[in-house]
Amino acid sequence: MAAFDKKADKFINKEYAEQGKTVATRLFPFINEEILKNNEKVNILDMGCGVGAVTIPLSLLNPKFIIDGIDPSIKMIEYFEKRVKEEKVERVFPTFQAEPKPENKYNIAYTTNVLRYIQDISGFLKQIYDSLVKDGQILIVDYEKSEKTEIFHTKRDSALFYPTGFSKEELQKLLIDANFKDVKVLDFGIIEKRFTDKDNKVLNIPFDFLVATGFKHD
Ligand SMILES: C[S@@+](CC[C@H](N)C(=O)[O-])C[C@H]1O[C@@H](n2cnc3c(N)ncnc32)[C@H](O)[C@@H]1O
Repeated sequence: MAAFDKKADKFINKEYAEQGKTVATRLFPFINEEILKNNEKVNILDMGCGVGAVTIPLSLLNPKFIIDGIDPSIKMIEYFEKRVKEEKVERVFPTFQAEPKPENKYNIAYTTNVLRYIQDISGFLKQIYDSLVKDGQILIVDYEKSEKTEIFHTKRDSALFYPTGFSKEELQKLLIDANFKDVKVLDFGIIEKRFTDKDNKVLNIPFDFLVATGFKHD
């Protein structure tokens, strides 16, 4: 059973859907304009799409977008499929699958709030690299490294491999080592995350996020 099968229910609420919308709206301006201009249809991969909280609102931002969402948690994908059906979402295709296939297909591949759960990051980035067409773009959104992320995440989530998040330098190096070119790591702004403390009090804690981007040029 995938780690997220047990906690998929936690991703089905209004706040998480709103947060997904915020991430999609902020991600959109980082998408390369040439890719949008030069393609009639823009094929996009959402690696670790979860319940589709980002995938669905992103698909609505440009009618050229066709988004495959893949995730190794069957439960997350079931919730995603349910929402696609209920809301009659078009151009979005969730699949229960860990690795992207076929290769050399996508103009854009992105991943939001996933990298910190990946043990073999270079293997994961290689899969993304191989999935892209020439001049395709990668986008990664995750926590900026801080003590706060460590305090709030280490004990709460045993599925995490990088509970502190990532520094700009670390993300830059990871993408360069994976052969991406024109790599940039930029501020993505603050996103509030909801936690429940030991007295069952709900806390909304603000965290800084980063977006890393690069291109496959060969
Ligand atoms: C915190 S959720 C984020 C979901 C979604 N990207 C979002 O922003 O709402 C992390 C997701 O990463 C997925 N995941 C874990 N390991 C993965 C892997 N090796 N490849 C792809 N996805 C993975 C989990 O199943 C889970 O759905």
